Amino acid sequence: MGTGNNEKANEIRSATLLTERQRREVHFHAEYAIQCAADYHRIDYDIVESKKRRWWNQAWSMYTALLSEPLVDKRVLAVGCGAGADCFQLAKVGALTYGCDISPEMVEIARTVASREGLDIDFRVMPAELLTYPDRYFDVVLVHDILHHVDIPRTLAELLRVAKNSGVSGILCDSGQLIY
Ligand SMILES: C[S@@+](CC[C@H](N)C(=O)[O-])C[C@H]1O[C@@H](n2cnc3c(N)ncnc32)[C@H](O)[C@@H]1O
Repeated sequence: MGTGNNEKANEIRSATLLTERQRREVHFHAEYAIQCAADYHRIDYDIVESKKRRWWNQAWSMYTALLSEPLVDKRVLAVGCGAGADCFQLAKVGALTYGCDISPEMVEIARTVASREGLDIDFRVMPAELLTYPDRYFDVVLVHDILHHVDIPRTLAELLRVAKNSGVSGILCDSGQLIY
């Protein structure tokens, strides 16, 4: 996995088509990325590796739901992946991991940390409202802490398009609830 010239061209093309709201998100997260980069000294994999589950914690509940099906070699997408936190966990448990986010700065951090951690993850810059993945491509689509940032009807249409609808297919929301 990785990025080539076509990918770069797609990134530039989608950046020129952004709505006003999407541009605001890009601008805000360019600043925020500086803080994220400073926080990323060490990745803790307890949330996927520990047998003890913190059921009272929202993020841990989400992972308990995710890990209830084998993820090894399943194609999993984190939409609005930010600096890659969920992607690192998913790749660690053997998922074929993809992450996309509208912020080039956040994706840059995600790529740098993944490389440092030795994780093979396909990160791309794109808006959730206009995904470039094929139809029914992903076994699981994860939307974590992102729905309040996006145009929900357009994004949901895209999530439904790229998710398979058999096997462990699903769109998993912040709460650990399968919403499709
Ligand atoms: C609160 S962060 C959550 C990041 C990640 N999901 C996590 O839980 O760590 C929200 C992310 O949504 C991204 N974002 C905002 N609007 C977006 C859009 N329209 N399409 C894709 N990503 C978007 C931001 O760049 C930011 O990285």
